[in-house]
Amino acid sequence: RFRDVRVYPTVDSTNGEAKRLAAQDRTWEGLVLSEEQTAGKGRRGRAWLSGQGEGIYMSFLLRPAILPQKAAMLTLVAGLAAARAIDSLGIGVGIKWPNDLVADGKKLCGILTEMTAEPDYVDLVVVGIGINCNQKAFPPDLGEKATSLALLGGADVDRNALAARVVEEFEPLYMEFQERGDLGFLLEEYNVRCVNNGARVQVLGEQTPLLGRGAGVDKDGSLLVDTDDGKRIAVQAGEVSVRGL
Ligand code: BTN
Repeated sequence: RFRDVRVYPTVDSTNGEAKRLAAQDRTWEGLVLSEEQTAGKGRRGRAWLSGQGEGIYMSFLLRPAILPQKAAMLTLVAGLAAARAIDSLGIGVGIKWPNDLVADGKKLCGILTEMTAEPDYVDLVVVGIGINCNQKAFPPDLGEKATSLALLGGADVDRNALAARVVEEFEPLYMEFQERGDLGFLLEEYNVRCVNNGARVQVLGEQTPLLGRGAGVDKDGSLLVDTDDGKRIAVQAGEVSVRGL
């Protein structure tokens, strides 16, 4: 059933559509793709630019056999899968913890993970992936912050082939994650790609912003930070936001 793939010409949000399909059939798992989104969602209530044919808009609807507190780790799994897929085009990308893919210091891909769960089991997890592919320009407010594969590589990319590659990379990582129950098996690769490691970071969302240096991601998906006052802390995805300095 995981192989069930639904492709739409247009949809409000592939995350939203995936959740509707899951509500109609409580056992459904699959993948939703759309050529455009009329109400693409980013994290923190932001909109995600989703023009026709410009990006990849895809959402996995998963029913993983994991505890709810582990669901956030799936965003890191998906980020690594997307990074590998983009690498296959010869375009190098870094991961800004927990799950933005960046190149040239600009954002290329974002991931929005949503979950419904009971205290002791997960009902469903939606992992939505947006990859900027063939945009030649961005609105002024995003211009400095966003980039696309076409801007980076100088040519349009085949979105179908790239989306298929993301699926190919994601499936085995997802299976292994479910078996092992943590991210230990992919950490080495993740940490090489993680642009926060060794870099100055500001941790927001604590009472006072913390300053320090990224010191690697651990098997639970937390970012370790060596703070300027000499402590090593682990910050959890979803609880804080990290800004490069
Ligand atoms: C972010 O803010 O970085 C997350 C962006 C996530 C965008 C993707 S596009 C496919 C899926 N559907 C949505 O509405 N959002 C995600």
